[in-house]
Amino acid sequence: MESNSQYARMDYWDERFQTEKKFEWLSGLEAFQHIVCPLISKDSRIAHIGCGSSQVSMQLYDLGYKNITNVDYSQVLIENGKLEHPYMEWIADDITSLENLADDSYDVVLEKATIEAILVTEKSAWEPSDSALRSLESIFSSISRVLKPGGVFISISFTQPHFRIPALLREKSWSIEMFEFGETFHYYVYVCRKGGKTDGNLAERYSAIAKSWLRPLC
Ligand SMILES: C[S@@+](CC[C@H](N)C(=O)[O-])C[C@H]1O[C@@H](n2cnc3c(N)ncnc32)[C@H](O)[C@@H]1O
Repeated sequence: MESNSQYARMDYWDERFQTEKKFEWLSGLEAFQHIVCPLISKDSRIAHIGCGSSQVSMQLYDLGYKNITNVDYSQVLIENGKLEHPYMEWIADDITSLENLADDSYDVVLEKATIEAILVTEKSAWEPSDSALRSLESIFSSISRVLKPGGVFISISFTQPHFRIPALLREKSWSIEMFEFGETFHYYVYVCRKGGKTDGNLAERYSAIAKSWLRPLC
């Protein structure tokens, strides 16, 4: 029987991308464009990490955002992307290190539903494992490293703010803001600006509930 834990395995994604050419997790750009596009300029250098077969990069390109790098750890997906959309850059990399992306090189790093895939084997949303917290720290510090000063990390997620905001607060180099969209299902856009300062009320409000996401690691 299939289980969600497969979403944490690279071999699962490699096999899936042998045939899958388009699939959109959570929602397409049209649902959150009003939040995201005002944060990006047409000449922004954008890295879409864990891009999968999402069409968000292609939709952004058609809107005039031409400087897009797509990043995913599935080599199969990256080779497909290079063939089908050679006008964009495609780089195979793991978002827990982003070792193939240079420091201070992107204005925008965009992520949708990939952090959820990485954390899918977690048993409880209230008590993250040490391993989950370590992964998040690696992901966030890698993203911050590749962002230019003042650059933004934009994360589209179904994870509720009382779980995700304390996790994002583990990274000290950025400020955090949150937006919401969706009608039946509600999704979140977390916007982290490198070098910014988080509003104290937001940090206090959302870090008081699921405190384990902020607990120190030994
Ligand atoms: C749930 S899909 C989301 C795809 C796309 N962002 C979307 O919203 O439609 C997760 C994607 O992240 C990729 N992925 C999972 N773990 C990764 C990692 N550690 N580094 C890079 N990519 C990863 C998978 O190959 C897959 O394309």
